[in-house]
Formats: sequence, C-alpha cells, structure tokens
Amino acid sequence: MYTSIMRSNESDFFVKIAHRGASAYEPENTLASFKKAIDMNADLIEFDVRCSQDSQIVVIHDKKVDRTTDGSGLVGHKTLSELKELDAGNGEEIPTLDEVLDLFRGKTRFAIEIKENGVEDKVVKQIKKHGLEEDSFVISFKPNRLKLIKYLEPSIRTGLISFSSLNFINNALNCGADAVAPFHWFISDNTVRSARENGLHLFTYVVNESVKAKELKDRGVQGIVTNKPDIL
Ligand code: G3P
Ligand code: CA
Repeated sequence: MYTSIMRSNESDFFVKIAHRGASAYEPENTLASFKKAIDMNADLIEFDVRCSQDSQIVVIHDKKVDRTTDGSGLVGHKTLSELKELDAGNGEEIPTLDEVLDLFRGKTRFAIEIKENGVEDKVVKQIKKHGLEEDSFVISFKPNRLKLIKYLEPSIRTGLISFSSLNFINNALNCGADAVAPFHWFISDNTVRSARENGLHLFTYVVNESVKAKELKDRGVQGIVTNKPDIL
C-alpha cells in the first residue's frame, strides 16, 4: 500500500504526482482537474494554497486571480464569497482546501504547496480535521514554512522543492523535510545517491514526457510531478 511504502525505507517505489491536478487536460487547481488526475491513477494530487481576505484557505497558484480566472486583483484582497464568484476555467470555482480534502479523502493523497507565509497553522488544522496526516505531504520552496509545519505537527511529512542546483539536499535536511524535489535538470546520479544516503525521498518536477519520466524512474527518482498523469 502506498502509505506504508512511503513510510518505509524502500527505495524502489515510484509515484505520479498530478501537478495542479491533471492540468494538461482541465483548468489547473480545480475540482475537475483533480477528478481527472484520480481517473488517470495519479498517486497524489499537487495543488497550491493561499489565504483569502477573510482567512479561508483557497486553492490557487498565483498571488493574483488574473491569469487563471475571469477576475482581477489579489487573492488576499478578496473574501471567499468574492473568490467563489469567479470562473476558474470551464465554469469551475476556486476550491477551498477544506472542499478538496473532504471530496477526495480516501481516493488519493495530497501534496499541498504553501504559497505564502502565515497559512501553516490553518493547513495543519485542516489536515488534522480530516484525519489526513498519513496521506498528506506539505511542500514548499521555503524551508522556514516546512520547519513551522514540523513544529506544529511532526507527523505530517514535508518536502522541499528547489529550483536551484545548489544545496537542496542540505537545505531539506536542515528544515527536517522528508523529501526533496529539485527541478529535473538538477537530477544527477550523485543527487540520487545523496538523497538515499540521507534518508530523503527524491521527487522531481515538472515532467510531461514519458521517455524522460521513465529515464528518471530508472535512475532512482521516486516520483515525478506532472501535468499529464497518464504518461506512464
Ligand atoms: O511541485 C512542484 C511545483 O508545483 C512547483 O512549481 O510554480 O508549479 O508551484 P509551481
Ligand atoms: Ca505547486
């Protein structure tokens, strides 16, 4: 079973993590995109969280709503009901974290990316409310956010994402992360060896070609973040 594999020291597993859902096929970070990813047998759905003006955790990538909805302005300057009025693509709403965890609990696992400071406590509360400590990874580019998650709830697994070729293993270790996910350009044999030696799961992003995905899998990478969960 997925959860027990992820808790063990086994190194020969491989997970498909659907980036913003199956975002090559449906509007990113929407319920439609997550449903599609689950239909395509994604092992986890990845999505981004931010805070509304009235302190609700919503699922959206950018600081502003402009790129992904028919609205404009900052997410943090809008109430949840204002955000809910927007079209996030094909008539989809911007989901809340609560809705996503409630709807998909038991159907998939969750890679929740924290996009801004100050939401850590609410994210942990939501994971605990739904009893999803075993089925969630909290991920971020910022080590301090992951440190805070571990402080708030040590049993929740965390993963440091990195777009730099430097120090990502040490940075992940220093913030107590369970996984590291460098951009796929930076995966070398040394990266695979070092992650293993240090007890870190090794994932990478964003890989949308099956040849590349297979090559990374064969080299010992344990998971890819992809817009196309059907490539493997
Ligand atoms: O999981 C890695 C990926 O989600 C990070 O990049 O910009 O798509 O959030 P971004
Ligand atoms: Ca993300």
